[in-house]
Amino acid sequence: MFEKPTQVWEEVRAAGGVARREEIGAWVVVDYEIVRQGLRDARLSSAVAGSGPAEGPLAPLLEVLRDQLFLMDPPRHRRLRKLVAKAFTPRSVEALEEGAKDDCAALLSFEEGDVVSRFAYPYPVQVIARLFGIPAHEHAAFRDWSNDIAAFVVQHKPPREVVANALRAVSEIKPFLRERVRSREPGGDDLLAELLAARDEGDGMTEDEIVHTAMQFLIAGHETTTNLLGNIVLALAREPSLLDAVRQQPSLASAVVDETLRHDPSVQMVDRIATEAMHIGEKHIEAGDRVMLSVAGANRDPEVFPDPDRFILERPNVRQHLGFGFGIHVCLGAALTRLETRLAVERLAQIAARIEVEGPLRYRPSTTHRGLVSLPARLVSRP
Ligand code: HEM
Repeated sequence: MFEKPTQVWEEVRAAGGVARREEIGAWVVVDYEIVRQGLRDARLSSAVAGSGPAEGPLAPLLEVLRDQLFLMDPPRHRRLRKLVAKAFTPRSVEALEEGAKDDCAALLSFEEGDVVSRFAYPYPVQVIARLFGIPAHEHAAFRDWSNDIAAFVVQHKPPREVVANALRAVSEIKPFLRERVRSREPGGDDLLAELLAARDEGDGMTEDEIVHTAMQFLIAGHETTTNLLGNIVLALAREPSLLDAVRQQPSLASAVVDETLRHDPSVQMVDRIATEAMHIGEKHIEAGDRVMLSVAGANRDPEVFPDPDRFILERPNVRQHLGFGFGIHVCLGAALTRLETRLAVERLAQIAARIEVEGPLRYRPSTTHRGLVSLPARLVSRP
């Protein structure tokens, strides 16, 4: 884990934008153009969890991970992404707006407390559960499984206990989702129904692929959103004029979200393996080397984003940030994330005159993801 990620990005930038970092045993890339090219480079494989049948004590976890889009390469990636994109459409996201608004209002109804455990953590999982048509009384189990699996995915060398919890979570959530898939009557408009329909029309997703794809929404979409929400609330707390600006012009809520995705993104680096010897920037990379494309570092490239360390609400080119990745693996959940986070910023602007952080900040142990473990704060009501 990097204690001060922005310092690492600057060190790597000073070394030409690409440098080997022994503390994580990988190359780190922070130059905006090189990161963008890297995200499109077929020689950099995403299959960092391996491919083919999994073996050994971690097999149940690896089986799930090897079916995740962000951890697979074409041609399999192309086939599955098409099927998932067909099921998870802009319409399915729009349909979630009213429910998400209710969840947001209900969870943001406290004045003083930990913003992460009270809001940023439960909110995205509730929305994803709605997407799957999972009833409210089952949300808590869903939330815990998600937490245990995510803790494993985001850590470079997860401790034994984290591995054990993730294995248990997989052994519980899989039969839960499998049962949902098997007992599903034809029809319905939630995501599982759409995935089954896509399978029936498409080229035969297996039952395991459907279950693993469903899990993907938790693996790729829960912790990332929780972390981003925490980073957004922190930005609003540090700069109270942002809340005023959103109150006066609600459309600026989306600008707050995008500038946070640039300035303090929840996914900091994406992981690749070089499949052949190659040059990245000026550096020679061997086949098999690990290459971490730092979207967070690229987002602070002063050539693209002048005065990059400042949070600037109306940056003209903010949407060029790489916070959702780029290329064939670009985030499939971006529209959902934008919806959830915009609603959160709008709600906070409605209810809070300002946000006061009450306590030291502690970040989750991860090199690739950045988010707060807790954010004790006071939402100071508007008069
Ligand atoms: C703040 C929230 C989020 C951030 C910052 C984020 C970021 C990213 C990034 C950077 C990638 C590219 C990974 C790579 O190139 O290796 C990605 C891929 C992906 N994201 Fe997100 N994501 C977020 C939320 C979500 C949500 C809510 C969902 C689903 C409901 C989701 C589903 C996915 C999927 C399925 C992929 C893999 C796409 C592929 O490989 O084709 N994400 N995300």
